[in-house]
Amino acid sequence: MILKVGVLASGNGTNLQAIIDKSRNGQIPVRVAVVISDRNAFALRRARAHNIPAYIVKPGEYDSQREYEQQMVDILKKHGSELVVLSGFMKILSPHFIDSFKGRIINIHPSLIPAFCGKGFYGMKVHEAVIDYGVKITGATVHFVDENVDSGPIIIQKAVAVEDSDTPETIAQKVHEIEHEILPEALKLFAQGKLKVIGRRVFIER
Ligand code: GAR
Repeated sequence: MILKVGVLASGNGTNLQAIIDKSRNGQIPVRVAVVISDRNAFALRRARAHNIPAYIVKPGEYDSQREYEQQMVDILKKHGSELVVLSGFMKILSPHFIDSFKGRIINIHPSLIPAFCGKGFYGMKVHEAVIDYGVKITGATVHFVDENVDSGPIIIQKAVAVEDSDTPETIAQKVHEIEHEILPEALKLFAQGKLKVIGRRVFIER
């Protein structure tokens, strides 16, 4: 069974590309059914290059957050999305959206949650904070999305070392590399029905 995935992305879309590549070459039992962005992001071009339907849904063009989110829900459902992946999506979603795909939304965050996460921590800001704080390890986290920011049950985490010579840019690069491994891996486990959530803990059937 191939799982149909809807992807929300705001930026370059390298994580989207990793999902597309691994799904196309049969490494993960997933098909990207649709991609939505809140802006004219490069991620949309990546989708179109693979004939994946790609939409821009701009929050500013709707009277309310609810209408904005409902438009995305309608598009995701129209394309049969069984799982929603927030792949570098920079908008915070309300409980209305979360409830529409309860237990079926996954996010990738560029730190070891619960460090450097929550409101204001996204993209390069996370890596700048990592360098400023002086931590010796950082990493990436794939987790289920609940109604709070970066707070849902954790599926996979992977760490990278912060070396003396690192800058926010080199950390971003190292973190992206592990993201491209753990996000597709989490999708594969979800698609295979191997993730069991009990309270805050996600158990992986091996
Ligand atoms: C990724 O590092 C992802 O973890 C981060 O944005 C980047 C998107 O890269 N997401 C967040 O910060 C969400 N809070 P990409 O567009 O190349 O996939």
